[in-house]
Amino acid sequence: MQHDLFDTNPSHPSDPPLPPDERMSLLRDQIRRHDYLYYVQDRPEISDGEYDRLFRELVDLEQAHPELLTPDSPTQRVGAPPLDELGKVPHERPMLSLDSLVDQEDVLAFDQRMKRELQADDIDYTAEPKFDGLSVELVYDRGTFIRGATRGDGSMGEEVTLNLRTIRSLPLQLRTDGHPPSHLAVRGEVYMRLDDFHGLNRLVVERGGEPFANPRNAAAGSLRQLDSRITAERPLVVTCYEILAMDGTPPPSHVDELDALASWGLPVPVLRRHCASIDGVMAFHRETDQSRDQLPYEIDGIVVKVNRRERQEQLGMKSRSPRWAIAYKFAPRKEITKVHQIIVSVGRTGTLTPLALLNPVEVGGVTISRATLHNADEVARKDVRDGDTVKVERAGDVIPAIAERVPVPGETRAAPFSMPDHCPVCGAAVAREGAYIYCTGQAACPAQLKGAIEHFASKPAFNIEGLGKKTVAQLIDQGLVRDLSDLYHLRHEQIMELEGFAERSAALLLEAINQSKTVSLDRFLLGLGIRQVGRHIATVLAREFGSLDAVMSADQERFLAIKEIGPEISSSLVSFFQESSNRQVIDRLIRSGLTITQTDTHHKDASLPLSGKSVVFTGGLAGLSRNEARALVEQLGGTVSSGVSKQTAYVVAGTDPGSKLEQAKRLGVHILDEQEFLTLIKDKERD
Ligand code: IVH
Repeated sequence: MQHDLFDTNPSHPSDPPLPPDERMSLLRDQIRRHDYLYYVQDRPEISDGEYDRLFRELVDLEQAHPELLTPDSPTQRVGAPPLDELGKVPHERPMLSLDSLVDQEDVLAFDQRMKRELQADDIDYTAEPKFDGLSVELVYDRGTFIRGATRGDGSMGEEVTLNLRTIRSLPLQLRTDGHPPSHLAVRGEVYMRLDDFHGLNRLVVERGGEPFANPRNAAAGSLRQLDSRITAERPLVVTCYEILAMDGTPPPSHVDELDALASWGLPVPVLRRHCASIDGVMAFHRETDQSRDQLPYEIDGIVVKVNRRERQEQLGMKSRSPRWAIAYKFAPRKEITKVHQIIVSVGRTGTLTPLALLNPVEVGGVTISRATLHNADEVARKDVRDGDTVKVERAGDVIPAIAERVPVPGETRAAPFSMPDHCPVCGAAVAREGAYIYCTGQAACPAQLKGAIEHFASKPAFNIEGLGKKTVAQLIDQGLVRDLSDLYHLRHEQIMELEGFAERSAALLLEAINQSKTVSLDRFLLGLGIRQVGRHIATVLAREFGSLDAVMSADQERFLAIKEIGPEISSSLVSFFQESSNRQVIDRLIRSGLTITQTDTHHKDASLPLSGKSVVFTGGLAGLSRNEARALVEQLGGTVSSGVSKQTAYVVAGTDPGSKLEQAKRLGVHILDEQEFLTLIKDKERD
C-alpha cells in the first residue's frame, strides 16, 4: 500500500521565487519525504545527487537566515557538543522484557494458556521478527521528537536523544496527515544492518581498534556515545513496535497499532503477520527461520503477541514481562564439520585461546573455517581433538564456537589436546588464572606488545600524552618499537615518517616521552602491565617495598604477607619477575635513563575514586570476564566482595543474576547493569 506522502509538489521552474521562509519550509518537507522514502520505505524516488542538492540549498538558506532555523530541520541531526555523561530518565511506562521460548511444545502450551485464561476458542496473534539490537523509548510531543532513552533497568534509561537524532530512519517530525496524538511515547529497536556492521568493523580495524563482536554490540556501543558526532558516523537504523503511552485512545489491536505507527511516519517491522491462530504463528516462525540468512540484519527469533488490546489488558503482566507476548527464539545455527587441527592463538592481553581450524563449512550463509574453543577447560569438557567431527554454532558473533563433538562410530581419535606450557608466539612460560591460561612474556611478547605499550603510555601509568592506539600501532608495524624500552630510543626523523606526523607533532611526542622518564614507583609498576596489578595494588606495592629491587626480589610468601594481596596476585607477581624476558625489559628501561622516584602523592590510595568501596558481581557479564571486571574495580582502588551487605557500594547484575540481586534490592544498595558499570568505571577513570 502506498501513501500519498507529504504534500510537497516541487515548485515549477517558471514559478516566481518563494520568500526564503516558504522555500525553506518546502525544502524541509521535501527532504523529510525523501528521508522517509529512502530510510523507512526503502524505495527512493530521487538520486543521491538530487538529494544532496536539496540538502545543500537548505543548509545555505539556513546559514543566510539563521533566525529561520528550526530545531526539527533535517539539517539539525548532528551538531551538539559532546556530553560529560548520559543522563538518567524515567520511562513513561515500564519497558518490559519477554519470556523466551525455543521449543514448539512450549509455544503450544502458551497458546493453551491464553485460551484458558481468556476463555476463548480462537485467539488471533501477531508475529514479527525479534530484532537483535537494543531497545529504546522515543518520545514525541506535538509531533516533534523531543527525547529518547535506552531501556536501562526497564523503568529508568539513559538519555540518548542527541544520538538518536542522528539516525536517519527516525523521523524528527511525525507526519501530520496521519493525525498523530499530541503526546506519544513509542518503543523500538536500534540495530545495525549486517553489511554496515562489517563495513564499520573494517574501518575500526584499519584505525587500529578492536572490532565489535557482533552487530548488537556495535549498535549498543554506537548509541551510547557521549559525542553524537561519533554516533552520526555509525550506520544505525530503528524499527518501532509498541506504543508505550499516548494521548487519546490507543488502537484496539497490535495490527492497528503498527498501522498507526506507520501512518505517523515511524518505521515498523516490514515482515509482520497477522495470524488467525497459533498454526499461523508456527508457519511464520518456520518461514522466517528459513529466510533469516537472506535478511540484511540479524534476528534471533520472532515475537508473538496476542493481537487484541482488550485481551492483552485482561491478561496483564508478571513482574517483568507481559503475559500476552513471548519471544519464540530460533535454535542456534549449527552445522557439522571436521576439525583439521587445534591451534593456540595469543591475544593482546596474553590470553591463550585454543582455536579449531575446520574444514570450511557454511553456517547461516557464512563460510566458517575456524571456531573458538574458549579455554582449556572448555576443550577438556567438550573433549575435542584434532580430526574430530564437531557441530559449529554461530549466534551472530564474528567468531563462531564449537557447540559439541559428534562421536563417529569406529573412529580412531588423536591424543587429547593439551594447552602448551610455553607461549607459541614468544616462548615465555605460561601461567593459569581460573580457566584461562596466559603468556607471562607480557610486554616482551610480540602478540601482546600493542596492548602492553598502550597500557604503559596510559594516563595512570607513564602518562605519555599523544601516544594513543593509532600511534602505537604505527610504531610497532613500522618495526620502530619491539619492546617498551625502544620508546626511549625513538628519533625525531623516525616519528616524522609516520603518517599524520609533522615537525611539531613529532617534537611534542618526543617531549612527552622524555618527560615520562622520571616516574614514581607505583606508576612504573603499573606500567609494566603485570596481570592482576592495577592502580591500587601498584600503590600498595610501592608503599610496602619502596624500591624496584625490593619488589623484584620478593617471594610468594613476602607478597602474601601484605593484607591486600591474595594468592592470585602474588603468583602473578612472582611469575612475572621470574620470566627472564621481563627482567631484561626492565633492565633495558632503566638503562634508557629512567629515574624511579618514591610514590607520588598524587596517587595516594585514599584519593583513588573507588577506594574504600566494595563492589559485588552477580550473574554473567557479556563483554568481560569476572577477572577483568575485578581488575577494573581494583585499578580504581575498590575491592570486589562476594557477599552483599549494607556496606556494599554497588551490585553489578549481569544476565541471570542470583539471590544477591534480591538482597541488594532489599538493602537498597545501588544496582548497576553491565553497561552502567562500564560507564561508571570510565567516568571514575576520568575523575
Ligand atoms: S515487544 C511488552 N517486539 O526483545 C513487549 N520486542 O525481551 C515488549 N525486541 O527487550 C517487547 N524485537 O528489545 C518486542 N518486535 C519486537 C522486538 C522486541 C526485538 C526486543 C526488545 C526486548 C527483547 C525481549
